[in-house]
Amino acid sequence: MSKLIVKAENLTKTYKLLAEDIKAVNNIDLEISSGEFVSIMGPSGSGKTTLLDMIGCLDSITSGRLEILGNDVSGKKESKLVKIRRGNIGFIFQDFSLVPSLTALENIQLTLHFAAVKQETQKSIDLLKRVGLGHRINHLPRQLSGGEKQRVAIARALATEPKFLLADEPTGHLDTENSQEILNIFKQLNQEKGLTIIVATHDAELGSQAGRIIYLKDGKIVSK
Ligand SMILES: Nc1ncnc2c1ncn2[C@@H]1O[C@H](COP(=O)(O)OP(=O)(O)OP(=O)(O)O)[C@@H](O)[C@H]1O
Ligand SMILES: [Mg+2]
Repeated sequence: MSKLIVKAENLTKTYKLLAEDIKAVNNIDLEISSGEFVSIMGPSGSGKTTLLDMIGCLDSITSGRLEILGNDVSGKKESKLVKIRRGNIGFIFQDFSLVPSLTALENIQLTLHFAAVKQETQKSIDLLKRVGLGHRINHLPRQLSGGEKQRVAIARALATEPKFLLADEPTGHLDTENSQEILNIFKQLNQEKGLTIIVATHDAELGSQAGRIIYLKDGKIVSK
C-alpha cells in the first residue's frame, strides 16, 4: 500500500484584497501517493503556485483540511510548518534561488547547515555529479548557464534527502534543450529512486510527461 504524501479535503485559500476576496484555491479534494510524479497545469492565475505553497507548508490554508506526510497542517502556525518543511520537502523555483556569492558546492552546504544536517562534503559533490555538474563544483552562479543553475538547485533540494520534491515552473527560464535535461533528471529521480515529484508548470512537454496531470482552472480542479 502506498503512503499518502498529500491528502487535501475541501482545501481553500482565500486572499483578502481591500473589499475583494480572491479564492485562489477553491474547495479542492486531492490525494498524492508516495512515488508519484504529478504535474499541476492550468492558465496563469489558476492557483498552481498557491496550491504548491500550501502543499510545501510555505503558506497557511484558509479552510478545509490538509495532511502532508500524515501531519495535519490545517490551522498550524509557521513554527509548526517549518518543522514539517525542513528536511522533508525539497524546493525548486523558477529563478533558481541560488546565493550569488557562493559556489555550487557551497550553496548545497549552506542548505545542509540551515537544516542542521551533518554530511560529508563528498556526498554534496556526488549529488552535483549526479546532475551532470561534476566539472562545475566550484563555479559561482554567475559562471553557470541557466540549465546548470537549475541543476545546482535540484542537487541542493536533494541534499537533505527530502521525502518529496516540489518544483514551481522549474523550466520557466530555460530553453527547450535545458528544459528537456531538467525533465530527464526528474524522470530519472522518480523512476530509479522512487522520489515523489510535484511540479507546477506551463511547459506542456514537462507537464505531459508526468505520471499524472492535474488541471486547475479558477482555483478548482477540472481534471485529475
Ligand atoms: N499574495 C496574494 N495576495 C492576493 N492575491 C494573490 C496572492 N497570491 C496569488 N494571488 C491571486 O491568486 C490567484 C492564483 O494565483 P497563483 O499565483 O496561485 O496562480 P498560478 O496558477 O501559479 O499562476 P502563474 O501561472 O501565473 O504562475 C490569482 O488570481 C492571483 O492574483
Ligand atoms: Mg505560479
